[in-house]
Amino acid sequence: MLRNIASLFFYARFLRAFSALGYRRAARDRAPLEPDFTGQTWLVSGATGGIGQAIALAATAGGARVLAIGRSEEKLEALKARSQAPERMIPVQADLSLIASVRELAEAAELSMAAIDVLVNNVGVLLNEHQLTSEHLETSFATNILGPFVLTEALKESGRLAADGIVINVSSGGMYGSPLRLEAMNATDPESFDGMAAYAMHKRAMVVLTGWWNDQWQGLPAVHVMHPGWVDTEGVQTALPGFRLALRRLLRNADQGADTVLWLAQQRPQPPEEGGIWLDRSLQPEHEFSFTRRSRHSAGDLVDYLKQVAG
Ligand SMILES: NC(=O)c1ccc[n+]([C@@H]2O[C@H](COP(=O)([O-])OP(=O)(O)OC[C@H]3O[C@@H](n4cnc5c(N)ncnc54)[C@H](OP(=O)(O)O)[C@@H]3O)[C@@H](O)[C@H]2O)c1
Repeated sequence: MLRNIASLFFYARFLRAFSALGYRRAARDRAPLEPDFTGQTWLVSGATGGIGQAIALAATAGGARVLAIGRSEEKLEALKARSQAPERMIPVQADLSLIASVRELAEAAELSMAAIDVLVNNVGVLLNEHQLTSEHLETSFATNILGPFVLTEALKESGRLAADGIVINVSSGGMYGSPLRLEAMNATDPESFDGMAAYAMHKRAMVVLTGWWNDQWQGLPAVHVMHPGWVDTEGVQTALPGFRLALRRLLRNADQGADTVLWLAQQRPQPPEEGGIWLDRSLQPEHEFSFTRRSRHSAGDLVDYLKQVAG
């Protein structure tokens, strides 16, 4: 009961900003994007559906060569066929929830042809049912935070990220409801698993990691974190059918969800000194409620934890 009231409060609090209403209001005063990504190499994870697909298609249409990462060969081929420039859409099969697969991806021949100018850590799942990967990690943890962490670190260490490039991490407004709690990050015990709470915390961790990478890398490359608002994708249809039914007329489409990623890739702003998360091309605070600031864990603790789990 209390939880339902808290959810209602949360959705009502953010309805105007996160729905299509927020997108439309923000779009009123700005010019449409006409990005030119010619000559750039992008890597987009979770590119076979939803927002990732919209990003990958827009990037190839804008002239980029896109390494499109997905786990389904069939969906990767369908994505290539949909692209305006299929010769620049390079499908690379990998499962971001498996550390072995992510390490293989980081070494893949397709990634060695040119430095990556734009890395979009888009992949993310909200699971209602508890699942473990074949590596015995809770699947949403492995997909949402560990896989992207291992990939980004491996690409940086091997010099595959262009120093003047940009890393764009896709978080979620759901992170406003969660502090960082390492003890609940990888809920391998089904009894302690709450899919929504786990997702929100992984997305909080993405924000924390962004700040850590900027401290470590000093802008070489710049790292940004954004959230797309509420977007009508297969992920939402599967994970949140009630939410989708109630709000379907107010949800954004995938192109609207992708807009801020494309804008960041075009604008390349400096990493904000005080942190922040982008929504609709505008920097928003990392916390909306004081309880999410209270964490026993620092960014360094998170990184140590992820390194330890990744082995
Ligand atoms: N939609 C929203 O309202 C919303 C709101 C806030 C934040 N976000 C964030 O935006 C990002 C994209 O969300 P979305 O709604 O577009 O998701 P989606 O519709 O579920 O699409 C996710 C894509 O990722 C792929 N994927 C899933 N697990 C994978 C794995 N282990 N390895 C490789 N690829 C995998 C999926 O491919 P398969 O077909 O193989 O599963 C699919 O192509 C996520 O990070 C999400 O958390 C979305």
